[in-house]
Amino acid sequence: MKEDDRIITSSMREEDLKNEYSLRPKFLNEYIGQDQAKEHISIYIAAAKSRGESLDHALLYGPPGLGKTTLAGIIANEMGVNLRVTSGPAISHAGDLAAILTNLAPGDVLFIDEIHRLNPAVEEVLYPAMEDYALDIVIGKGPGARSIRLDLPKFTLIGATTRLGMLSSPLRDRFGIKEQLQLYSPEQLKEIIVRSAQILSIDIDEEGALEIASRSRGTPRIANRLLRRVRDYAQVKGSGCVDLMTAQRGLDMLAIDELGLDAVDRRMLIAMITIFKGGPVGLDTIAAYTGEDAGTIEDVYEPYLLKLGFLARTNRGRIVLPEAYAHLDYPIPEGAAAPQQMKLEV
Ligand code: ADE
Repeated sequence: MKEDDRIITSSMREEDLKNEYSLRPKFLNEYIGQDQAKEHISIYIAAAKSRGESLDHALLYGPPGLGKTTLAGIIANEMGVNLRVTSGPAISHAGDLAAILTNLAPGDVLFIDEIHRLNPAVEEVLYPAMEDYALDIVIGKGPGARSIRLDLPKFTLIGATTRLGMLSSPLRDRFGIKEQLQLYSPEQLKEIIVRSAQILSIDIDEEGALEIASRSRGTPRIANRLLRRVRDYAQVKGSGCVDLMTAQRGLDMLAIDELGLDAVDRRMLIAMITIFKGGPVGLDTIAAYTGEDAGTIEDVYEPYLLKLGFLARTNRGRIVLPEAYAHLDYPIPEGAAAPQQMKLEV
């Protein structure tokens, strides 16, 4: 199955677009969770504002769907400046980036999503822009070529990535602020769901909200999507109110289990248990057996399975942990590798 076809994908789907905008908090005090990143950012914003300067460049990293774009919008709002949004793959030529940079107003925030996918020639343009607020342009070709330097307004670059390791170190080093976003707890997601339900005029009770939250893989984008699906279910099959029972039935209908696992997660774990005695298994082997892309497994499925304590990364590959056997109702295979005997990677 293609990753985007899964109801629990953390990638942006067409259906999320129209709602995500209205659901996005505009200021830090409306943003739920990510307490550490929020605290750091509020201090940096207050300091930059009191000095009358633009905010230092910031890098936000972590799994998809956790609110990196939302946070960039909040930073721009709190600083009282414009937000320009683009992405690594959208900027194919150095000239495209030059056009964006020369159109910024002083203090503006430029948000580049999936910054790890920037073309290296474009990245070269970004270095002097970030460091010296300057654009080096080469005019002419061959021996007569000259380089001129154009001044840019002082702007803030906010880069977002799901793969910190894929960022070149010169680029990484040019960000003064680096914040990692973490998966949300069910209680935090419940708060987000209750807030979204209020905005969308959906009738929901606390238990219904917690049930959706528990099955949303720590990800607000998934929580908001499941809320809309369960609302439809409640309208047609229930009383219209999203309570515990309608949430359970609506989500069971979507084949998402009590912890938010779908058929693809189960297939992956079961393949690891039955074929490889619970591991250690290399990422590429898991990818080959499940037909999923290794990068997608690492960035999208794994973070939640690691957080649940279902999988661990070791120096010899991935291993299935006892919690996963219990959840899937599989006996631990004889001779299965014990995590204590391996060096765990974090
Ligand atoms: N919507 C998406 N992420 C959110 C968050 N962290 N807080 C509130 N609403 C959100």
